Amino acid sequence: MSDVAERRNYNLRDEIKAYWSERAATFDLSPGHEIFSEEERAAWHRLIRRHLGEGEGRMALDLASGTGVVSHLLDDLGFGVTGLDWAEPMLERARTKARERRRKISFRMGDAENTMEPDEHYDAVVNRHLVWTLVDPAAAFAEWLRVLKPGGRLLIVDGDFVNANALERLFSKLSVWGQRAGLLKADTPSGSREMMETHRSILSRVHFSQGARAEEVADLLRKVGFVDVEIDTDLSEIHRTQARNWNFFKALARRSQHRYAIRASKPSS
Ligand SMILES: C[S@@+](CC[C@H](N)C(=O)[O-])C[C@H]1O[C@@H](n2cnc3c(N)ncnc32)[C@H](O)[C@@H]1O
Repeated sequence: MSDVAERRNYNLRDEIKAYWSERAATFDLSPGHEIFSEEERAAWHRLIRRHLGEGEGRMALDLASGTGVVSHLLDDLGFGVTGLDWAEPMLERARTKARERRRKISFRMGDAENTMEPDEHYDAVVNRHLVWTLVDPAAAFAEWLRVLKPGGRLLIVDGDFVNANALERLFSKLSVWGQRAGLLKADTPSGSREMMETHRSILSRVHFSQGARAEEVADLLRKVGFVDVEIDTDLSEIHRTQARNWNFFKALARRSQHRYAIRASKPSS
């Protein structure tokens, strides 16, 4: 294929895929991605239980599973888990981790907007930090409705990573200042300057380029046919257990962000 043809065929979805493929090597080093304490793991378990109940062998699909952090949480709770991601380097890490932890989780390559999974196959569809980066969320949500069994549940964990409120801005500035002065614990580097620029560029072109607000996501879920849509902004236990990984101000900045879980159901029939 000529250079020109290659460039013409390279779209936003390919850019997102390439970005996460490159991030895979260091993804688990970041608190907020991988889990670094049993307290945090228990807090995540409680959030999932609150919305989905115990697994009891039911089938769950973890969309955009990355290195498999959420897949493992679901497996811990007794779900039969399939993790789906479109970045092969993420999948490789997820498979290695599952082998090391002796978990039977199936990880496969696929697009969360077009999963190729059978109709009405899953009791639960779950994703963390996917919705903000969807190119076509309405199509994706309709797809998730399709693969859920009647009465099945969707659990989204996400946030608005665009609109920093005044408190978040203040705490972030104090965190940066403290780190520069050598007084505060340094952040885990979130990639090179070039990667950060790529991230900014992608974010400016996705559907939720103005920030994925929970109410907007919930409205879209209702529009495609989900019912009993409930927004849960009480992630305080998770944030508290994560806080020790960051300096004081960085932890406060994170807690000031608009982060949420959304639970929704497919109508029973
Ligand atoms: C921020 S990471 C989150 C990973 C994981 N859910 C977690 O919370 O640890 C985003 C992941 O979404 C995947 N991703 C983004 N859009 C996707 C899509 N349309 N289909 C499949 N995977 C997607 C990326 O490859 C990446 O692994």
